[in-house]
Amino acid sequence: MIKFPKDFLWGGAVAANQCEGAYNEDGKGLSVQDITPRGWKEAPTAEPTPDNLKLIGIDFYHRYKEDIKLFAEMGFKVFRLSIAWSRIFPNGDEQEPNEKGLAFYDAVFDECHKYGIEPLVTLSHYETPLHLSKEYDGWRSRKMITFFEHYARTVFTRYKDKVKYWLTFNEINSISHTPLLSGGIYTKKEDLSKQDIYQAIHHELVASARAVKACHEIIPEANIGCMILGMPVYPLTPNPADVMASLETERENFFFSDVQVRGYYPSYSARLFEEHNIQLDITEKDKEDLRHTVDFISFSYYMSACESADPNKESGEGNILGGVPNPYLKASEWGWQIDPVGLRYYLNCIYDRYQLPLFIVENGLGAVDELVTLEDGTKTVIDDYRIQYMNDHLAQVGEAIKDGVEVMGYTAWGCIDLVSFTTAELRKRYGFIYVDRNDDGSGSLERYTKKSFDWYKEVIETNGEIIN
Ligand code: BG6
Repeated sequence: MIKFPKDFLWGGAVAANQCEGAYNEDGKGLSVQDITPRGWKEAPTAEPTPDNLKLIGIDFYHRYKEDIKLFAEMGFKVFRLSIAWSRIFPNGDEQEPNEKGLAFYDAVFDECHKYGIEPLVTLSHYETPLHLSKEYDGWRSRKMITFFEHYARTVFTRYKDKVKYWLTFNEINSISHTPLLSGGIYTKKEDLSKQDIYQAIHHELVASARAVKACHEIIPEANIGCMILGMPVYPLTPNPADVMASLETERENFFFSDVQVRGYYPSYSARLFEEHNIQLDITEKDKEDLRHTVDFISFSYYMSACESADPNKESGEGNILGGVPNPYLKASEWGWQIDPVGLRYYLNCIYDRYQLPLFIVENGLGAVDELVTLEDGTKTVIDDYRIQYMNDHLAQVGEAIKDGVEVMGYTAWGCIDLVSFTTAELRKRYGFIYVDRNDDGSGSLERYTKKSFDWYKEVIETNGEIIN
């Protein structure tokens, strides 16, 4: 039988820009999400357009009480959400915060605590204030460090009695793939050099470390972690050239946590910088700041990928980073290759590397769901495929725990249906709770529990004993 630690943090996860809606209410400023109605692969619009589903999202801003009540019914111990930076600082570079924005999250956290749910808060989940993007080119500017630190200190001070778990940047390692949404960089991706990207990364890493420092000062009992897009990279074949290529790709991702966990740049970065002619502007103060390292490591996990040294290699679909398809794995309807064993492998790899507690803060299956009406008139979704996916992944988490890996918790991604990140669709659903809203914007926004809702409730009730 699989045994989870008795204080295991079971829960679910969302991000402000994908669920809140109310994109311009109560003083909120625009964010980069408000001008990307088709997700990260397509060019932004000049202004928010009505076809951008994120402007209304699933209306969590007005319905959070109903939603948190449902999370409590499932027995959530923790609820991961992000603070929309542009609700607190509408432009991002102001001195004074927007009180209405602060009050909203006070109310959300109070609602969580009413049910004994601990909030786990991401400071920046792909939602840089648009003004910072247009005016400063996002994280390319060193000034962003100061703006971010001010924002982080403001929310730490305000919520110090309400939030004990924090994350700095969501999937920080995605920046070179989606510079606008991940790094707030307004310049087109094709016009950016490696120098530009790595300088932006450096600014983010320093800002992340300063947030860690501030968190430890302001809320000494809190835990603050980094957040990595987790995707193990397998060599496509045992050809040593493929093995080496996969190591290099893997390092592109470990690069971030290597700095956030160890407090300095990894030794392999010297060669990387030299070969790409990257000369970073790093001050002595930056180096000191970087020494403020995270308390735990969190990551998202949806899939693994392969790597090959072949210049004509195939490139597959997947969670932002992409990769060469694995011939042994099946894929979701969106081409994301499903690999539960990859989760056990990845947990072991990171734990071996860092020996810090790990938190799986995103995992789940994006699928098209059909709302059906049962004989008694109840509307629901019979999502056995989602239950199977999660069962299989959680079984592998159990194996990793047996392997000796310290796992703090698991928050299922999109525990309530929300707008997808990659393609900004609503028909790609992850939730235990169905939301009646469609890609054409129609729908009542009513909530219906799916079959997986009852299943996850039992998972939590039995502390994972029903996983097989
Ligand atoms: C992660 C993001 O990349 O994957 C989430 O942190 C995102 O914001 C999730 O929603 C799933 O991706 P998608 O594109 O299916 O929504």
